[in-house]
Amino acid sequence: MAKIVGGITTSHIPSIGNAMANNLQQDDYWKPLFDGYGPVKEWLEEVKPDIAIIIYNDHGLNFFLDTVPTFALGCAREYFNDDEGWGIPTLKSVEGDEEFSWHVVQKLIESEFDMTICQEMKVDHGFMVPMNLMWGDKDTWPVKGIPLAVNTVQHPLPSALRCYKLGKALKTAIESYPEDAKVVIIGTGGLSHQLQGERAGIINPDFDIETMDKIVNDPEWLTRFSNAEIMEHAGTEGIEVIMWLVMRGALTDKVKLIHKHYHAPVSNTGAGILVVENDE
Ligand code: DHB
Ligand code: FE
Repeated sequence: MAKIVGGITTSHIPSIGNAMANNLQQDDYWKPLFDGYGPVKEWLEEVKPDIAIIIYNDHGLNFFLDTVPTFALGCAREYFNDDEGWGIPTLKSVEGDEEFSWHVVQKLIESEFDMTICQEMKVDHGFMVPMNLMWGDKDTWPVKGIPLAVNTVQHPLPSALRCYKLGKALKTAIESYPEDAKVVIIGTGGLSHQLQGERAGIINPDFDIETMDKIVNDPEWLTRFSNAEIMEHAGTEGIEVIMWLVMRGALTDKVKLIHKHYHAPVSNTGAGILVVENDE
């Protein structure tokens, strides 16, 4: 049977991709961020997942504003990155697991989450930056990757509560897969940031730190916020944090905190990292 071995959250800021491409991890600006990933990598070396489900939002590489699915699951054999205009080098493609994806999408749709089924899907920085942060120092990706895209770009967006419930359905879907597989769930994006408009540049470390604590200990706290309220605290792009709730919903009600790290600013964003395990 497939088993969820834990969950990770991480920001997916594109300039992290540039910093990695230019080997700037020990640079004064970048070191406080990259130091936060050491314990994540150690944990991954220990648990050795076979499959990573990466919850991210497409920022315009695969879906443009004319057609944006609320929730979409990759059901492809392979996922390709491409030039998306941030100057980040295009990274090597990531192998998927079609059989696993089809099982998950079937179960999610049975659970009344009407997923868009993507048999081809280009993956942008939302997916690739986390892959690179976790496993970029290896010659080949040591996991299969499955993209789960959540619309955080074209309003109306799904609510925080809906994302949390999607996580719960995802748990059922994964745990009913008959083959053995160790699955890690990675929620990406956030924390607070706003890239445009009057309040561009907003970072709210107090809200970010409280959110990180609640994601671990009381995730329903965030599900009681409307999207407008989250954006008031965390900025318009800070709404990406709803994707952390998909990860959290897929884990047990109580979780063990393995690692936590926060650093701001990184580019325009408060960058948070969590590693949690199920606490049965
Ligand atoms: C930044 C953060 C994001 O999540 C993103 O998608 C693009 C840019 C930033 O802080 O620069
Ligand atoms: Fe983003």
